[in-house]
Amino acid sequence: MSDYKAALYPGDGIGPEVIREAVKVVEAAMNKVGAKITFKELDWGCRNWKSSGKVVPDDYLTILQDYEVILLGALGDPANVPDPIATAPILEIRQTFDQFVNLRPARLWPGVDSPLKDKKEGSIDLMVVRENSEGEYFDSGALFKKDTPGETAIHTSIHTRKGVERIMDYAFDLARKRRKKLTLGTKSNALRTTMVMWDRILVEKMEQNPDIQTDKCYVDSLCMNFVLMPEVYDVVVTTNLFGDILSDLAGAVVGSLGVNPSANLNPTRKYPSLFEPVHGSAPDIAGTGKANPIAAILTGAMMYDFLGEPDAAALIRRAVRENLIEGKVRTPDLKGTATTTQVGDDIAARVEKLS
Ligand code: NAD
Ligand code: IPM
Ligand code: MN
Repeated sequence: MSDYKAALYPGDGIGPEVIREAVKVVEAAMNKVGAKITFKELDWGCRNWKSSGKVVPDDYLTILQDYEVILLGALGDPANVPDPIATAPILEIRQTFDQFVNLRPARLWPGVDSPLKDKKEGSIDLMVVRENSEGEYFDSGALFKKDTPGETAIHTSIHTRKGVERIMDYAFDLARKRRKKLTLGTKSNALRTTMVMWDRILVEKMEQNPDIQTDKCYVDSLCMNFVLMPEVYDVVVTTNLFGDILSDLAGAVVGSLGVNPSANLNPTRKYPSLFEPVHGSAPDIAGTGKANPIAAILTGAMMYDFLGEPDAAALIRRAVRENLIEGKVRTPDLKGTATTTQVGDDIAARVEKLS
């Protein structure tokens, strides 16, 4: 019997609330397929800031390195800890473990209303493939003349041929398994060195992948299209920062950020991969029981896809689908009155009943 070992990093705000429910559901699904998952829970986060001046121990990356997968809730407690400190572990984990793919699916589930008029269930089904290791998130900058009128900040975005090629290769392969459409979110009209290189590499990759319908769209225009006609998109490959922005927008158009999962992958499996919802720690609703745990639960399904447990992943998605179709037990973001725990319990019970 497979017995997977996973690191569990619930984090801050609604992170621990949604992760508690995700764990219930992923354990139920594993049980159902006759396998086991054992979590090592890590009590890291902003709660440690006051006493230790740290949000993670110094050797946290060494601790995480022993796991194939990490399931994370969310980081950030902006009222008490400066955000660049609170969220630094996410960026360091992605960088150190070379998790160069950030997969962010967005679909309009049956039973969920899009804020856009006349969008039928299943009509929106796209995948943002976010370059996750370089671009604007490569930590390279400098500050000069601090606190003077001449204060100057420089932040360099780094794009390498290797980095662009590998994310495009991943995105083309993914498109081949889906509806065979790929769109590059670019900005080569303004970013005339970096994004022109992306456009050029896209043309090379297009020639190598003639079976994929490929186009590019300026990212500002793409934002507009995500609202006007999100159903035309299948795989959208883009830079780190554009992918961050587009994926929150995609969450909004499918009814709530509270349902969108994500996976930060090191496809070579040399280092751990990190699974987390797209959303953050939502301090505005933390502690109220209003957080939707579905994004975290579906993140568990993405983790099982990666671990090679597609039956367990499918059970989770079927249970979520049933919950959403029935529509009785849902959180306020989906116009319901149920609590985070009630939704988790409902989905876990459905997993147990499914065959
Ligand atoms: P956020 O995603 O936390 O919240 C944005 C809005 O969406 C809020 O109104 C929130 O209530 C709502 N929302 C988010 N998740 C929800 C859920 N599961 N159910 C129902 N509603 C939900 O973004 P923010 O407010 O910009 O950031 C808050 C904190 O989270 C900051 O510290 C930020 O840096 C951090 N953050 C962390 C991550 C992460 O850990 N991966 C991602 C984004 C933001
Ligand atoms: C995300 C978040 C992070 C990002 C923050 C917390 C650094 O917004 O995962 O989408 O910008 O990547
Ligand atoms: Mn984000």
